Amino acid sequence: MTGFRAEVTIESIGRRGDGVAAVTGGVVHVPATAPGDRVRVALTEAGPGRFRGRLLSLLEAGPDRREPPCRHFGDCGGCALQHLAAEAYDAWKMGMLRSLLARNGLEGTTVEPLHASPPGSRRRATFAIRRRRDDAIVGFSERHSHRVVDLAACPVVLPEIAALIEPLRAWAAAALTTGDRADAHVAMTDSGIDLLVRTAARLGGAGRDALVDLLARENLARVARAHPKQDGAEVLAEARPVRAVYGGFPVALAPGAFAQATADGEAALTGFAVEAAEGAASAFDLFCGSGAFALPLAGRGCSVSAADIDKAAIANLGAAVRRAGLAKLHAEPRNLMRRPVPARELAEADFVVFDPPRAGAKAQAAEIAAAGVPVVVAVSCDPGTFMRDARILADGGYRLTRLRPVDQFLWSPHLELAARFDFAG
Ligand SMILES: C[S@@+](CC[C@H](N)C(=O)[O-])C[C@H]1O[C@@H](n2cnc3c(N)ncnc32)[C@H](O)[C@@H]1O
Repeated sequence: MTGFRAEVTIESIGRRGDGVAAVTGGVVHVPATAPGDRVRVALTEAGPGRFRGRLLSLLEAGPDRREPPCRHFGDCGGCALQHLAAEAYDAWKMGMLRSLLARNGLEGTTVEPLHASPPGSRRRATFAIRRRRDDAIVGFSERHSHRVVDLAACPVVLPEIAALIEPLRAWAAAALTTGDRADAHVAMTDSGIDLLVRTAARLGGAGRDALVDLLARENLARVARAHPKQDGAEVLAEARPVRAVYGGFPVALAPGAFAQATADGEAALTGFAVEAAEGAASAFDLFCGSGAFALPLAGRGCSVSAADIDKAAIANLGAAVRRAGLAKLHAEPRNLMRRPVPARELAEADFVVFDPPRAGAKAQAAEIAAAGVPVVVAVSCDPGTFMRDARILADGGYRLTRLRPVDQFLWSPHLELAARFDFAG
């Protein structure tokens, strides 16, 4: 069927944000299309009864289509849904959430309206850098491809981050040699921009000096480099200590440290957890990172046990705790997938918050399920693994009572969730 062309009408939008239409022999997923669009597509087979469609021409626009705000939309794989009118976009994200809840027997909870982070507010991005023969390109990968789209602008990230695209391109053209690749992790922190360049390329003295020059020229807080296959990073220059402030307490951040994708998203998630922990005397913060939940909870007088696999984040959290004199916060490095905190320890607490990576926290959720903690908050960046872990809690006697969807990943198919569970016995 490869090379097959067809005219189809898009009926819905699938989980990955592509338009879905019926074709002879199955369904086709077509990026950058909206329900009601009549389109001409080139199809390639993607599995039994499944085709991937490449949009050849838009014959007639559906009612929810609008002009995408970014000139790179359609080529760049960073966004999937810029072409949807705002109401249709919100309705799609909420519809996806409701159907997942229903499919997992978790309906009947209070679902808050979508909390949306605005354009230009994403505070971290990883740009792919490629040094070609005559120039260098900086951008994000195309969909379903490793080809990098050379970006002139990005309306999703903070303007200060978008403003670094051109200086990074100039750096790569001067410092790398043909065929070299690098990733630039750019994060806006409380101290300003933290830049971590990860590359296997040999950076000579001039390449490193050119990175250090970026610090002064672009008013960055810190510049570091790392090898993709090695842990840790080498700080090349630091204008000021790089830190986040959680619950009013400053905490140092290592290069590349995790932070929630937007500042208002972080506030929506931590606000939800702090409200749910009202009155708790003791709590666990599992997958705590640098303490975005643990520090605000401890600041309210709650005794907190925090754990995360990231040793640097735990060391920095420990230092922040000592500096602030928060005797009741204890943080330990721990692999919670292999060695979850057991139910018998969790059972001592009034409150648990857990915020795992995209893979979810199956083993830890089973321990929480067995512990019968009065209130649990699950924070998740993956609705699929969230549903699996939520089901484990529900089967252990918890009721999902409140859900806050947070759209930190604007125009992508991703959705962040904060969910409250009450132990019903
Ligand atoms: C989504 S982040 C949440 C961090 C923190 N709660 C925050 O809001 O900043 C997920 C965290 O899980 C941690 N993590 C990943 N795998 C882990 C594992 N196997 N055991 C413990 N922590 C892990 C990461 O280091 C990261 O800090």
